[in-house]
Amino acid sequence: MAAVVIDGKAAALRVREEVRERVLVLREKGVIPCLGVILAGEDPASLSYVTAKERALEEAGMASRDIRLPADTGEAALLSHIALLNGDPAVHGILVQLPLPASIREDRVIAAIDPQKDVDGFHPVSVGNLVLGKRGFAPCTPQGVVTLLREANIPLAGAHAVVVGRSNLVGKPLMNLLSRREFNATVTLCHTGTRNLARYTQQADILIAAAGKAGLITADMIREGAAVIDVGVNRVPDLTAKKGYRLKGDVDFEGVAQRASVITPVPGGVGPMTIAMLLRNVVQAAEDTAIQH
Ligand code: GUN
Repeated sequence: MAAVVIDGKAAALRVREEVRERVLVLREKGVIPCLGVILAGEDPASLSYVTAKERALEEAGMASRDIRLPADTGEAALLSHIALLNGDPAVHGILVQLPLPASIREDRVIAAIDPQKDVDGFHPVSVGNLVLGKRGFAPCTPQGVVTLLREANIPLAGAHAVVVGRSNLVGKPLMNLLSRREFNATVTLCHTGTRNLARYTQQADILIAAAGKAGLITADMIREGAAVIDVGVNRVPDLTAKKGYRLKGDVDFEGVAQRASVITPVPGGVGPMTIAMLLRNVVQAAEDTAIQH
């Protein structure tokens, strides 16, 4: 059996269309949703992510406030930019691209963002709201995974979802999202300390790989007919590629596709959904403030 390959780009386009319609409603009321985007340093991967986010905002009819800072920017200077964005009513969301230069404490920066503008969902208040099942912003990649599963008609209620990876960006929030009553999955969280990983992954109705290790999940590690979602974006050397590398997921795609029922590719799977969810969070933030005023 060969798996159905989930088209993340197509699913993301549907979300982006829905966002565009919500933006039109806001614009009629004189509100232009705006995201403040801070990039410190010149990491090429971060720059390409940020550029893609800003282009997507523009295509959806939204604005961005682009702040580019040199790699030697101090923590206090970065915090003062956040304070300005926090206090600016024309800015509805704030995104500080990670990772930050080593001299800046990431947790201090994240904690400085107004939780009402925390469209990345990384602020401790947002994390707490997610865990408590209250309203607030959930991180974009986990939301993208859940939305993809729904789009592919994968039943979540009562299913056993095994998440591999416990990062604050993906693994932990996914665990919390999937076990919410509205999704009702049973979640097992595996990580680098898990003994005999295959023993758990083989039990998964839905396997979500978010470990950041190229090709970690092989065909023998999954159950026949499982749904496999690959969150990994690993650069592996490839001399035949123009850039000298290519992107490879955490899943050995060719092998696993022979046993899975559905699978996401890398690139073109979860990645495009992440940006679509960011757009959705920004329009949500703008709608929330429009209601308050
Ligand atoms: N770096 C890698 N992924 C992300 C993300 O989703 N948000 C931010 N702010 N930085 C990132």
